Amino acid sequence: MTIKWGVIGAGGIARRRTIPEVIQYAQNSVIKAVMDPNPQSLAEIQKEFNLEAAFTTLEEILKEDLDAVYIASPVFAHFEQAVQSLQAGKNVLCEKPLSLSIREGEEMAEIAEKKKLKLGIAFMMRFNVYHQKIKTLIDDHQLGKIVAARAQLTCWYPPIQNAWRQIPQLSGGGALADMGCHCLDLLEYFLGNITATVGFLDTTVHPYQVEDTANVILKFESEAQAMVDNYFNVPDKAANNLLEIYGTKGAILTKNTIGQDPGGTMWLYQEKEEKNYDAQQSRKKISYQLVELKPSPLYAQEIDAFSQWISTGVKPKPDLSAAIGIRNLKVLDSIYRSAKEKKVVEVTK
Ligand SMILES: NC(=O)c1ccc[n+]([C@@H]2O[C@H](COP(=O)([O-])OP(=O)(O)OC[C@H]3O[C@@H](n4cnc5c(N)ncnc54)[C@H](O)[C@@H]3O)[C@@H](O)[C@H]2O)c1
Repeated sequence: MTIKWGVIGAGGIARRRTIPEVIQYAQNSVIKAVMDPNPQSLAEIQKEFNLEAAFTTLEEILKEDLDAVYIASPVFAHFEQAVQSLQAGKNVLCEKPLSLSIREGEEMAEIAEKKKLKLGIAFMMRFNVYHQKIKTLIDDHQLGKIVAARAQLTCWYPPIQNAWRQIPQLSGGGALADMGCHCLDLLEYFLGNITATVGFLDTTVHPYQVEDTANVILKFESEAQAMVDNYFNVPDKAANNLLEIYGTKGAILTKNTIGQDPGGTMWLYQEKEEKNYDAQQSRKKISYQLVELKPSPLYAQEIDAFSQWISTGVKPKPDLSAAIGIRNLKVLDSIYRSAKEKKVVEVTK
């Protein structure tokens, strides 16, 4: 069954990644209509992708015969648009962060439940082939007990007049809410629930109100500890977007698997035999092995997974359901409170 999609907020990530990937690679999803309040960009998008229908208002697109909508508008618009879309009988896949507050996210999920519709969160990085491999290695206990991890995502983001991301009331936060949410989600995907956080958030370079620097320490239910770091003030070409995971029997290091491109580079170390303490501590031999896997486009995979969920009623793996987006909001909320109150803050259950 092919699922008919509408796109709400078509001019940013949807135009750059999601729409072209769905057109080129999706198996069970088709884009039937787009909506964007900017008429010029809307006309360009319709022409660029040869789309049947394009609208400047939500009311118009919701009258179309669509099974699902993908909401890729600025964060402040997610709640209202998701609620209206669900009320109009559409399944909803929403971009990250799910909403501006936990309460809004929970209300969206309650409405979806009542209407017996699917509500999902677009954490497409879960679909990266290396992240899938990492999940399997961890779940199969191939790295032993996971004790520590680190996830990083940065981009150079200078001041731009009226940019919604730079206004806290419209975005919900800066580098952490925007990029850190992916890191936090990936770490919860790999390691389970985060229970407590400590955050240092500052605006150290750019003259806007949201944080351009975020360093966070996390504690997990599993007893693992982890760090997340996100910057809006480091050159793109300097970014490594590192992911590190350390267990008692091995470790993983990746470069640029966290990001919008599929792929990246991954190294794996697995301890072959039990060892005693090595007083010599020589680091001369390279112990990590390169792991090479075939990447697939992330956004097409996530849209197809959501379509599959609609068609079969079976939750996709990886899970994209609203509960994942709500947990992410709770972790973000704990970090923002920690930074403000200068203390360790438990994540709301
Ligand atoms: N998963 C990812 O890789 C990824 C990457 C970038 C952005 N995002 C998320 O996607 C969403 C959009 O971010 P972006 O970078 O594309 O932003 P953007 O500002 O580049 O583009 C947003 C688009 O939405 C339109 N828009 C503005 N107000 C609107 C409204 N009220 N209703 C509908 N459309 C509206 C704008 O005209 C523009 O075309 C955010 O939630 C962001 O966090 C996700």
